[in-house]
Amino acid sequence: MENLINSIREEALTYLQHVKTIEELEVVRIKFLGRNGELTNLLKTLGCCSIEERKIIGAECNKLKSYITERIAELKSELSKGGVSNKFDITLPGMEFEEGAYHPITIVQRELEEIFKAMGFMIEDTPEVETDYYNFEALNIPPYHPARDMQDTYWLENGMVLRTQTSAGQQHIMEKSSPPIKAIIPGRCFRNEELDASHDNTFFQLEGIVIDEGISVANLIYTMEVMLSAIFEKNVTVRLRPGYFPFVEPGFELDIRCEICEGKGCSTCKQSGWVELLPCGMIHPNVLKYGNIDSEKYTGFAFGLGLSRLAMMKYKIPDIRAFNSGNLKILKQFQ
Ligand code: DAH
Repeated sequence: MENLINSIREEALTYLQHVKTIEELEVVRIKFLGRNGELTNLLKTLGCCSIEERKIIGAECNKLKSYITERIAELKSELSKGGVSNKFDITLPGMEFEEGAYHPITIVQRELEEIFKAMGFMIEDTPEVETDYYNFEALNIPPYHPARDMQDTYWLENGMVLRTQTSAGQQHIMEKSSPPIKAIIPGRCFRNEELDASHDNTFFQLEGIVIDEGISVANLIYTMEVMLSAIFEKNVTVRLRPGYFPFVEPGFELDIRCEICEGKGCSTCKQSGWVELLPCGMIHPNVLKYGNIDSEKYTGFAFGLGLSRLAMMKYKIPDIRAFNSGNLKILKQFQ
């Protein structure tokens, strides 16, 4: 018990020596004296000791409690007068902390950004909370269009939406630049999904658009092949299927062979051996018109890469829910 009191005392002193703001001081107070604080919890266990022990240990605990309380009061008054910088002791050992790591999605996003930068793309950040216009209308999805049902959308009370797709950023780019345009928009999207191994309500996409004179499907396929081979560091097997998206014509689904089961069939690929990774297509003339781009002169392609899916494939993570779970056992493996 005495050892425990000593170690709490040492720990509290170290914390107090490093406190720089009133907010930090409050955190330290809660850590030691709060309702579930270390010292408070120790006091709670005294009930199990004999009366003799309780007297001695109780007195020690109370002494420490008063000491910490006084020290906190002193520091509080010093901090409110402008800080304790004059008491900073550079000879004190640093506090140990656990080194963090990038999230697997951040790693994949950054790798992709490098690959696209090397191909001359701009990297853009557009809003997560969007108007109906950017998320739907300017993507050739007018109100009451059945294509709105393809995405279970979170609507806010003020009429705005949590963007359901990074495609919502396309129009922002067209508004502020003119062709030739090569840009990617990585970011978080939201849909009211039924959750399972490959669907979460918060997920990441990376949108890309290329607009110039004479852009064709051949440019699209080549760019996608270069990018996917770079990210997987090998030639991946892909297949193209026709796909419907109101803002592209023609539209495609580019699938890659499931890297988790190597095409044999598993829960991630719904036993099909293929994972839908990259819907894409030639930008619909109506979308170019919304962006004030002459659709007679310019053409372009667009793609929407599922960043979360890609990270699952690359790191063989079988369940998308791991990304937002905060489960350090999983996330730490990417250090
Ligand atoms: N925004 C679409 C979605 O989330 C994906 C998409 C499809 C993006 C085709 C594109 C595209 O740029 O051309 O379902």
